[in-house]
Amino acid sequence: MEQYKLFIDGEFVDAASGETFESIDPGSGMPIAQVAKAGAADAEAAIDAARRAFDSGVWSGLTPAQRADKLNAFADQITQQTLRMAITESMDSGQIIGLAKYWGMLGSQMLRNFGHYAATRFPWQEEIPYAGNVFAPGRDYIRREPIGVCVGIIPWNFPMSMAFWKIGQAIAMGNTIVLKPASSTPLGALIIAEAAKAAGIPKGVVNVIAGPGGEIGQTLCTHPSVDKIAFTGSTEVGRQIMKMAADTVKKVTLELGGKSANIICEDADIDLAVEGALFGTFFHQGQVCESGTRVLVASKIYDEFLDKMKRRAEQLRVGYQLDPASQQGPLVNATQLATVERYVRLGQEEGAQVVAGGRRAEVAGLDGGFYYKPTIFGGVKNSMRVAQEEIFGPVVCVIKYDGEEEAVALANDSIYGLAGGVFSRSNARAERIARQIKTGTMWVNNYHSFGDFCPFGGYKQSGVGRELGHAGLAEYTQIKRMHFPASADHKSNFTMKLFSDDPKVPFVQYITPTLVLAGHGSLSSIYREVVRLGGRRAMILTDAGVRKAGLIEPVQEALAEFYAGIFDDISQDTDLATVDAAVALAREKGIDLIVSVGGGSVIDTGKAVCVTLKNGGKADDHVALMRLSEPQIPHIVIPTTSGTGSEVTNVAVIKSGSAGRKVYIIDNYITPNTAILDPQFTLTLPPGLTATTALDAMTHAVESLTSTMSNPICDGHALQAIRLIRQNLPKAVADGRDEQARSNLQIAATTAGWAFNIAQVGLAHAMAHTLGMLCNVPHGAACGIVLPAVMRYNVDHATDKLALAAQALGVSIGALAPRDAAMAAADAVEKLMKACGHPMRLKEVGVTEEALAMAPFHAIADAAALFNARPVSDPNEIAELYKQVF
Ligand SMILES: NC(=O)c1ccc[n+]([C@@H]2O[C@H](COP(=O)([O-])OP(=O)(O)OC[C@H]3O[C@@H](n4cnc5c(N)ncnc54)[C@H](O)[C@@H]3O)[C@@H](O)[C@H]2O)c1
Repeated sequence: MEQYKLFIDGEFVDAASGETFESIDPGSGMPIAQVAKAGAADAEAAIDAARRAFDSGVWSGLTPAQRADKLNAFADQITQQTLRMAITESMDSGQIIGLAKYWGMLGSQMLRNFGHYAATRFPWQEEIPYAGNVFAPGRDYIRREPIGVCVGIIPWNFPMSMAFWKIGQAIAMGNTIVLKPASSTPLGALIIAEAAKAAGIPKGVVNVIAGPGGEIGQTLCTHPSVDKIAFTGSTEVGRQIMKMAADTVKKVTLELGGKSANIICEDADIDLAVEGALFGTFFHQGQVCESGTRVLVASKIYDEFLDKMKRRAEQLRVGYQLDPASQQGPLVNATQLATVERYVRLGQEEGAQVVAGGRRAEVAGLDGGFYYKPTIFGGVKNSMRVAQEEIFGPVVCVIKYDGEEEAVALANDSIYGLAGGVFSRSNARAERIARQIKTGTMWVNNYHSFGDFCPFGGYKQSGVGRELGHAGLAEYTQIKRMHFPASADHKSNFTMKLFSDDPKVPFVQYITPTLVLAGHGSLSSIYREVVRLGGRRAMILTDAGVRKAGLIEPVQEALAEFYAGIFDDISQDTDLATVDAAVALAREKGIDLIVSVGGGSVIDTGKAVCVTLKNGGKADDHVALMRLSEPQIPHIVIPTTSGTGSEVTNVAVIKSGSAGRKVYIIDNYITPNTAILDPQFTLTLPPGLTATTALDAMTHAVESLTSTMSNPICDGHALQAIRLIRQNLPKAVADGRDEQARSNLQIAATTAGWAFNIAQVGLAHAMAHTLGMLCNVPHGAACGIVLPAVMRYNVDHATDKLALAAQALGVSIGALAPRDAAMAAADAVEKLMKACGHPMRLKEVGVTEEALAMAPFHAIADAAALFNARPVSDPNEIAELYKQVF
């Protein structure tokens, strides 16, 4: 009799106890090999070897491509053993030789496929283009790493196939493994171990120990050195394994039992369906976890189907597994035969009719074999135990149903969900049914079809996790997230700032993707810009006021044949519904470029339209911070007010009805591509709007200067914007046709926009957004009214910066103490506002006292407040500020 030993740490060894057991040929009942019987000590030795091998890096430290080379060598050794494997597997497990002959070929291919996938396709390292954390810019990526020591515990139905699954996946992904085959069928895995050794797989990477599961399972599933358990077997044992693994919190994947439904529709090709049901059940004597053991047949064809299936089942040749004529071999052992006999008796007691089989099969000269006839139960109710419990033998329950709905309900009425089938001439119908079944695999007009790259696993009590395919291989890795901050400096670390008294962030980030074209007649460059940006069909976005001012016709003319539509229904402080309406029109007209002509309300609408048009869905789907990873629909902007700077910022501020406030899209990919600052577009802006929109720009500039995010680039922009506004606003208000003043104000707004883009601004903006939302106060007017009060509020936290602002505002600060100079800046802003007729109090712009009650709470929650020079956390302080300017 052949002798097999345990394979531990690269050597074939006897069990520590010296004990052996016999492996039986189930076709004759005769012993065929003597096998070393592993106990707890052997399990420990194998785990230790696997641990050492893993930790040494001899395998885990190789590149996936180096491992793939070794797996190819391993596969070659398997190929050389094909004939021996076929005969041994057949004799050891009872598989007919017609099936067992494939394992050499399939197993070697599997090793090659897993190695190849791991080396060429598996995302070992994956950049995260957007972290989803605006406060921690930098690089984030995922590294996938092997888990460590894996334990594979496999059943007796497909000993070699299961060994290839477990060993192949574990080692292709860089792990080491201790494999425990079932004690009824230990031989195949030990032959595979010989091939691993011959191929030079380093010692300790693959270990195979045969022995009783109860005894060594305990050690394998509780040992602290084991990182993962992959088990295939019964749900009952799966539960125990999960419990045992819990104490050391091991990763566990479980492939467990099933009672899968094979649904035969009334429009099925009946011969195909009968063969599908037959193969789906009696393949390998029904000892298959995902067998279609509940055949659900439409009542209209039930009798015909059952009749044909009975005839075919009775034709199946039961015989010795090595006889090439045999279509059904023996069951694996006497215990399994007894289980089948018990269930067949139970089915009869429950009232099911034996249509075919129902008893042992005799095979001449092999009285000791465990043969059973293919057995069909008709008239089965799904509630019967034979329809609910896994039998794991050649027994099928045929159940009648009326209508798809009942078929789906019956299929899902099971604690299991491993697989299933649908037979129908209509793929659409089959798919409709298949989608409703709660199960891990559905075959249409087929059964038992596996693929190395197709995931397999169970819903419900059929298991946890997946094997095979990307999903299966990923189960043999773990994920490490890696983060590198954009700046390695504690002062620039926004979150560490929580522990700091100094809120200032010195890190500099300056992105300027917008091409700015400024000056008289710059509109004429728009045609060239459309060409440069690759647009063909441009849509103008604007509002009724801008259109009425006669500003749209020149743009249409300049766009010439690129002009493809206009949307002008944008109200002040736009909202998401407006964006959706504009997107609907743009989709209808096949628009590929947006030209926004207007103030901030129009430009922000344009930004949101570009994102929604590119990515589909509704505007609300795209309310997000730093989430985009590629350029959006091209956007050209022609500002018509003196204020927003939105033409160069990465922010869109839009009212959301459902959020009840202004929401933001902040993303570098929404910064417009081109800004055309042609002063002719602001000549028509009335004095009042000129003043309020310019005060929006002033607020950007002052708040950028004092923001915790400010830096020298930002400061330069901010101070120049303040100077330009101070010098030009009075001129533009006095004479709207002063083109030089208009041009300078546009440039001031853009320059302040750049500053704001760096600095994310402060409390005045947060307070103004709130007033826009609650009381419809125009943004610029609200900014202006609250700005001096906020400057004074910040005076001790931004003294030097405010003093610089005072200088830019024309104050001679030479003789002033720093704090007084800072306060003088606020006075100067007020003076400028008064000179330009800007409203000074909230009640002048329609704010009521009642409306102010909630305002502090909204303002404190507005993101702009986060960057204020003085930390803002007390709503009472904000209430006081609102009161001051009421
Ligand atoms: N995204 C950003 O970076 C950013 C920055 C600041 C403000 N904003 C947003 O911008 C919006 C405010 O923008 P705004 O102040 O430019 O006002 P606006 O776009 O709401 O326009 C105000 C009014 O001015 C009229 N108008 C504009 N140009 C005109 C012209 N040349 N002649 C005659 N009438 C004209 C418009 O028809 C409108 O009625 C707010 O929603 C604010 O939240 C965005």
